[in-house]
Parts: sequence; C-alpha cells; structure tokens
Amino acid sequence: MKTCIIYASTHHGNTKKVIDAIANEFEVDLIDATSVKEKDISSYDVIGYASGIYAAQFHQAVQNFASVNMPRDKKVFFIMTSATNKDFSKGFVKTIENRNPAILGAFTCKGYNTFGPFKLIGGTGKGHPDETDLKDAVEFYKRTVLKES
Ligand SMILES: Cc1cc2nc3c(=O)[nH]c(=O)nc-3n(C[C@H](O)[C@H](O)[C@H](O)COP(=O)(O)O)c2cc1C
Repeated sequence: MKTCIIYASTHHGNTKKVIDAIANEFEVDLIDATSVKEKDISSYDVIGYASGIYAAQFHQAVQNFASVNMPRDKKVFFIMTSATNKDFSKGFVKTIENRNPAILGAFTCKGYNTFGPFKLIGGTGKGHPDETDLKDAVEFYKRTVLKES
C-alpha cells in the first residue's frame, strides 16, 4: 500500500510535527503543497491531507493542490491541528467529492496558536502538539489508515 500526505503547516509547524511522527514509523511520502502545485499522485493507494486550520478551513495551498491533482476513487484521510481542536474536514471534502473519495477518517489535535490577539496573551495551545498528541496520531494512522487499506 502506497501512501502520501499532502500538507501545509505555515503557522508554527504544528501539523508538520504530527505528520513527521507518522512518517517516522511508517512508509509515507510527504508533499508540501505550499511548494508543489502540480504532481501526479495517481500511483498512491491512500492519500492524506494535513493542514493547520486558518479561518475554519484547510490551508488554501492544500485546497488548490486537491482540486488540481486529486485522482478519482482513492482512499483518503485527514489530519488537522487547530486552536479549537474541531474536525474541519467536512468543508474540505467538498473540494474533492466529485472525485468519489472513500473517506477513512480524520485526526485532529490542538496546535500552538499565536494568531492576532492571542499573541498578546502568550498564545493558546502552548506545547501542542505534545507527546500524547503525536502518539495518538500514530495510533490513528495504525487503526484507521493501515487497517482499512
Ligand atoms: C491566520 C490564522 C487563522 C486561524 N484560524 C483558526 C480557526 O478558524 N480555527 C481554529 O481552531 N484555529 C485557527 N487558527 C489556529 C491554527 O489552526 C493552529 O495554530 C494550527 O495548529 C496551525 O498549524 P500549523 O502550525 O501547522 O500551520 C488560526 C491560525 C492562524 C495563523
């Protein structure tokens, strides 16, 4: 099974920490959507999209990458870090739903956030993702992505 993760992690590298933890344990190719705009990813069996959340959305570069490059009929999963630790993947699915993806699941955890006024109070989610978040992400990958594919 060949897996790639398309990602953008521009605020504090929070999301990159999460996908690095997964890539350290499993064979996964990481593709930075802020620098790679077009790529043939049709040889991958499973495609992950990972992003910090900005204004309640996945990073624009990840959305653009998906709308340009997403092949049809692939297994897909999502990884997010955010201030609120909510699942924002439903909005992102709209970008790719015309490619008939099979959604495996979504992982979310808190990420350190110093956006706007939060900077004045030292930020929120300090220290996240922490060791437990990274362990949970690896478990998610094992349980949700490896087992289902
Ligand atoms: C411009 C901006 C907008 C953000 N908007 C949201 C938001 O709408 N909801 C939320 O929960 N977190 C929001 N955050 C917090 C980030 O999602 C969080 O810090 C995330 O971990 C950043 O990931 P990264 O370091 O991988 O880029 C925002 C951060 C920035 C810089």
